[in-house]
Amino acid sequence: MQRWMRRLILGITLACAALAAAHAQQPPAAEAAKGPPPGFVAPPLPKPDETNGERAKSQPGNNAPLWRAVRKSGEQQGVTSLPGAEMGTLIQRFVQYPGSRYTTAGEAWREVRNRWIIPYGGALIVIVLVAIALFHWRKGPLGGKHPDTGRRIERFTPVERAAHWVNAIAFAILAVSGLAMAFGKFILLPVLGLTLNGWLTYALKTLHNIVGPLFAVSLLIVIVTFVRDELPRPGDLEWLRKGGGMLGGAEAPSHRFNAGEKVLFWFAMVAIGVIVVASGLYLDKVFPAFDYLRGDMQVAHLFHSVAAMLMMALLLGHIYLGTVGVKGAYDGMRHGWVDEAWAQEHHALWHDDIKAGRIPVQRSGSAPAARPASANP
Ligand code: HEM
Repeated sequence: MQRWMRRLILGITLACAALAAAHAQQPPAAEAAKGPPPGFVAPPLPKPDETNGERAKSQPGNNAPLWRAVRKSGEQQGVTSLPGAEMGTLIQRFVQYPGSRYTTAGEAWREVRNRWIIPYGGALIVIVLVAIALFHWRKGPLGGKHPDTGRRIERFTPVERAAHWVNAIAFAILAVSGLAMAFGKFILLPVLGLTLNGWLTYALKTLHNIVGPLFAVSLLIVIVTFVRDELPRPGDLEWLRKGGGMLGGAEAPSHRFNAGEKVLFWFAMVAIGVIVVASGLYLDKVFPAFDYLRGDMQVAHLFHSVAAMLMMALLLGHIYLGTVGVKGAYDGMRHGWVDEAWAQEHHALWHDDIKAGRIPVQRSGSAPAARPASANP
């Protein structure tokens, strides 16, 4: 190897060694023992209660006070440039909603929704659907024991039917769009993919927010329209005691609406309906007087989703009985008229009132509907 080259390598090695030695040379303790250079003024130690401005001086770059303030902004609002109520609250205060840990409100709400409402609400709907399918498989459509007489009775006037179907269609749209918002992530997203599912969910959410107020009005109209015949009457307890004959045996006599319809009316349509509608209108920010704070919106959402799951589960029973579950029931609400035999079999006391002339056979001016094809021969 050429001489100059050997010298060069030696030189570099020595330089490295010297550098390392210079570094090594100064044992830290010794260096430190030397203390700060002359004239150095140590910044004051950061105090736990410093503002972020003070901390910027005492320990630049350490924004712990800012993050402490953000964390506490649920208790003591900070200042932000955002307009509107509670904009100084970046993290909500600690709360415990039923079924959640004691944690920040946003997290508590998320826990209740994802650990309770989604799994158990979904399970309830599936259980009801399976129960209806099993019931239909075992019992088949109820009624139709007596052949039609050909004599028709007006069961629902055109106004009653219009009120009912506007409400029923609004409910169906709300139920489908609500289920898509709740379960779309698990059912639609894997099939449709992010973009399409995103657009669909956004469209359904918008439809939900528009149809919601319509349902509020139509539900009120349905309640007012039918309430007189939904009041408790003699014979209702007997009907309930016999389970309406659905589990075997003859159906106990009832007036225009049987006790099962009345329980569903007062519990599912009135009591739960009012909770679904009031919390839904709140979530829709329909009422001008409120600030719609996040905590209140979370509570409204918990009420809305629990009540809506219950209402859907209960109304599935109504929809089943009102479509294929009871022979001739659908015709009554679709065309307005039922056969005397149907009235006698399902609402014997109502039939007696009509026979006795206490209730007119026809209440509206509309022409009697022709016997539907599905009429009982
Ligand atoms: C697609 C859904 C629906 C279908 C197929 C349906 C079907 C029916 C049928 C066939 C009847 C006549 C029962 C009878 O003659 O006694 C009826 C009555 C009635 N429906 Fe519906 N319905 C639906 C949705 C709704 C909804 C969402 C509500 C309210 C929230 C509702 C409230 C009522 C009321 C109050 C009555 C009067 C008798 C009773 O209390 O059952 N319906 N429905």
